[in-house]
Amino acid sequence: MSMNRSESERAVAELWGGRISDFDTVMARLREDGVDTSSLTVVDVNKVDLMHMGGAESTDELTERAGIIGGMEILDAGCGIGGTSRRIAYRTGAKVTGLDLTPSAVETGNRLSAHLGVDDRVSAVHGSVTDMPFDDGRFDVVIVQHCAMQVEEKDRLFGEVTRVLKPGGLLAMHDWFAGQVAPPHYPLPWADGPETSFLESLDDAIGRLKAHGLSPEPFIDLKGSGVEWLTRSRSEIDRQLADGGELTQTQQRNLAVSQTMIPNLSEGRLLLGYLFARSADQS
Ligand SMILES: C[S@@+](CC[C@H](N)C(=O)[O-])C[C@H]1O[C@@H](n2cnc3c(N)ncnc32)[C@H](O)[C@@H]1O
Repeated sequence: MSMNRSESERAVAELWGGRISDFDTVMARLREDGVDTSSLTVVDVNKVDLMHMGGAESTDELTERAGIIGGMEILDAGCGIGGTSRRIAYRTGAKVTGLDLTPSAVETGNRLSAHLGVDDRVSAVHGSVTDMPFDDGRFDVVIVQHCAMQVEEKDRLFGEVTRVLKPGGLLAMHDWFAGQVAPPHYPLPWADGPETSFLESLDDAIGRLKAHGLSPEPFIDLKGSGVEWLTRSRSEIDRQLADGGELTQTQQRNLAVSQTMIPNLSEGRLLLGYLFARSADQS
């Protein structure tokens, strides 16, 4: 990692570095889920490669609301192991570039894309959303999905988003914001404490987007579907517990998180939703 990363970026990369699965572990998890790994599709792997609330359903909704179609160039900022990037490319034919701070996420993601035969349309690079290794005006849509909540330097994030978007391009966020009540209950899926969580209020985010010359559209609140999704995931863990199975480390963390995230949403400590903002059209 380069020497000029901030303290918070080092902490974030260390957190995910300890959690991201390598290629063989992803394959093993799929087999545990009963998936035949000898003939995998992008959609099969989406069972385990989407690191956000709402899984494939929310990726598809984000894609449709953003109007992504074949021929577009998309940036998936904070792409994790590339589940969203591959799903968008596979369903729409768009070309998707991922960017992530965690080297193992980029490595696993690129290996999965090659294995699934979509590496002509999907690739990931290592770097920070606060200092993007891309030319000005390259992308039709920049996706920020469950990433902004752990970026401390938000002006640098939105400054970079604005720079790499084409005139008239779209920022499509599916992310977490601070609620009216603070602090959130920990653990959060992205933080055991405040060291790797940098939530801001929706009003602050909207003000910041405007300051960067982007035009935000009305926020789409996902509290209801978020609570439903968390409740469903929780019942799956409960079923496993009832079957007497021992929980893996990941399942233990998911259980702890399900105990905090439902109250976080229902007590107004966190906001989850889609936020779209368009860059100025210079034509
Ligand atoms: C919760 S995961 C979401 C991954 C992916 N967007 C998804 O929905 O499947 C958050 C990801 O954001 C990445 N991330 C956090 N801060 C970042 C930054 N400053 N630049 C690039 N990636 C970052 C982390 O490394 C991690 O892979």
